[in-house]
Amino acid sequence: MTMLEATPDIARKVLKPSVNPRFAPLPMPSLDYTDAVAAETAHLYERVKTVIPAIEWPVMAPYIKAINDLKKVRNAVILAHNYQTPEIYHCVADIVGDSLQLAKEATKTDADVIVQCGVHFMAETSKLLNPDKVVLIPDMRAGCSLAASITGADIRLLRERYPGVPVVTYVNTSADVKAESDMCCTSSNAVEVVESLGADTVMFLPDQYLASWVASQTKVKIISWAGACEVHERFTGAELRAYREADPTIQIIAHPECPPDVIAEADFTGSTAKMADWVKTRRPTKVLMVTECSMASNVAAEVPDVEFIRPCNLCPHMKRITLPRILDSLLYMKDEILVDPMVAAKARRAVERMVNLKS
Ligand code: 13P
Ligand code: SF4
Repeated sequence: MTMLEATPDIARKVLKPSVNPRFAPLPMPSLDYTDAVAAETAHLYERVKTVIPAIEWPVMAPYIKAINDLKKVRNAVILAHNYQTPEIYHCVADIVGDSLQLAKEATKTDADVIVQCGVHFMAETSKLLNPDKVVLIPDMRAGCSLAASITGADIRLLRERYPGVPVVTYVNTSADVKAESDMCCTSSNAVEVVESLGADTVMFLPDQYLASWVASQTKVKIISWAGACEVHERFTGAELRAYREADPTIQIIAHPECPPDVIAEADFTGSTAKMADWVKTRRPTKVLMVTECSMASNVAAEVPDVEFIRPCNLCPHMKRITLPRILDSLLYMKDEILVDPMVAAKARRAVERMVNLKS
């Protein structure tokens, strides 16, 4: 595998003001925890009672009720990534999943408005697939260290350096980068996407660790880039060995954005959705999920019989999405994702090629 240098962050383009004139702001609803709110949200608390302390519910429940009411008023759907906190994931989201599942579901919705509870590249992907819908993200600052590690100009230079070598980019990239790519992939379909191109060599950008995991699973020669996820790169193989020494019965499952010494310690490696499915079907007595730690809480709420060991690395970008910010999003229709139509047309091709790949 050949590895190239990462470049510094680029500023995100702001194309237009973020409020769409079709949707007027609505008044702030009451956020009192009344008997009626308690009764209306009781079935939702049942879903999260093992992971959210009862003392926190009176603060969350009025937001949850208000958001669920407003979704009907706006004809909105909430797409939430597996790393969202349990009160979002289990109580206001309509569709949950990994990046691939969310991209696929975004093509199926007939809602007028998509509220993306995740990071900017996920919302941008939804917008690419739904150019005529309003796509909102509750906090425009929710970025990603991988998306910030590479620009469209970098890809143009790479194409000069490696003429004829196809470019696969992780969906964790900006629309500018996707527009310069042959095809996108997620952690769940990366190997299939690389092999679908039928080439001997593929540039796989920008995650160096996902690239090295893909290289270990295929005969295709992989050229990578020095990007990394700031959350997964913090885990170490030594830390996992220490957990296993303390309890040899523990099962360790890891996301492929982790460094190779971490993946070498794992009993299973896969996307966030594949990790969740693995736990739900295998039902290990004890599991350590080597990924963003809200995900362990979301799965734990569904499988109370499994004990989760949680070295807690949080993604600061995912954690910008909160109930108050989701409520503001729906009340004031902000922040709207807009993509330059010329860039969008090219980027959409790379995303659609991935979404349409038969698995
Ligand atoms: P998944 O596609 O596995 O959900 O991963 C997305 C991501 O950002 C992981 O850090
Ligand atoms: Fe990006 Fe890593 Fe956060 Fe995922 S966990 S959004 S890859 S910084």
